[in-house]
Amino acid sequence: MNYGHAGRIVNILHLPPVDSAGEWRYRLLNEFRWKKDIHMKAIVVYESYWGNTAAVAKAIAEGLGADARAMNTDEAAGEALAGVGLIVAGSPIIAFSLPTAKMRSDMAAKPHKEAPAPPDLSHPLLRTWLEGLPQAGAGARAAAFETGFKLSPGGSAAKILKMLEEKGYQPAAKKQRFIVKGSFGPVKEGEIERAKAWGAELAKSAGK
Ligand SMILES: Cc1cc2nc3c(=O)[nH]c(=O)nc-3n(C[C@H](O)[C@H](O)[C@H](O)COP(=O)(O)O)c2cc1C
Repeated sequence: MNYGHAGRIVNILHLPPVDSAGEWRYRLLNEFRWKKDIHMKAIVVYESYWGNTAAVAKAIAEGLGADARAMNTDEAAGEALAGVGLIVAGSPIIAFSLPTAKMRSDMAAKPHKEAPAPPDLSHPLLRTWLEGLPQAGAGARAAAFETGFKLSPGGSAAKILKMLEEKGYQPAAKKQRFIVKGSFGPVKEGEIERAKAWGAELAKSAGK
């Protein structure tokens, strides 16, 4: 069987697999496509209250390539998700974990006096977005990041990656933490550059 030729036919016609052997071949070809494809759609989805995670997400998208976009959980819907081959998702660490609805209502009820601005609570939690994410297409991959203190226990990226895997995404890289200097930022010197480099590394391993 010439998989390269079959792959082109499957890719051009977007044929659904016809049987379990076909399904197996289809998945294998998508694995191959991940390594070889010249154009794989990548998006970076973030939750961010004071802009630190958003800034890191934008840097990752920049590293991924000109056609990769960073978007909040409202923007990452519908057409933006169609045919996506790589999802990179990230959030701040709040109280050692991926933010919850309870943490948000606490933030809204008891504003932090030291905060430079009120938190942006206008977009859905990443947790909620992940729960509503449709199952991955064949061969789709994912990576996760978090922003927080260097030495904080816990984190959010492991949970994000686990939720993505539950939706059928294969992990593309180890989780990453990008460091901030205070409870509301800013992002530590050098971290934006490191985020961009991580994005470029992801693109490289994806064969973008
Ligand atoms: C209420 C609150 C709780 C936080 N808890 C943690 C934590 O447990 N561990 C940590 O590393 N950082 C913690 N941080 C710091 C944030 O994770 C960090 O500032 C993050 O980069 C904010 O991202 P954002 O600006 O995108 O919302 C906390 C910040 C706040 C305001």
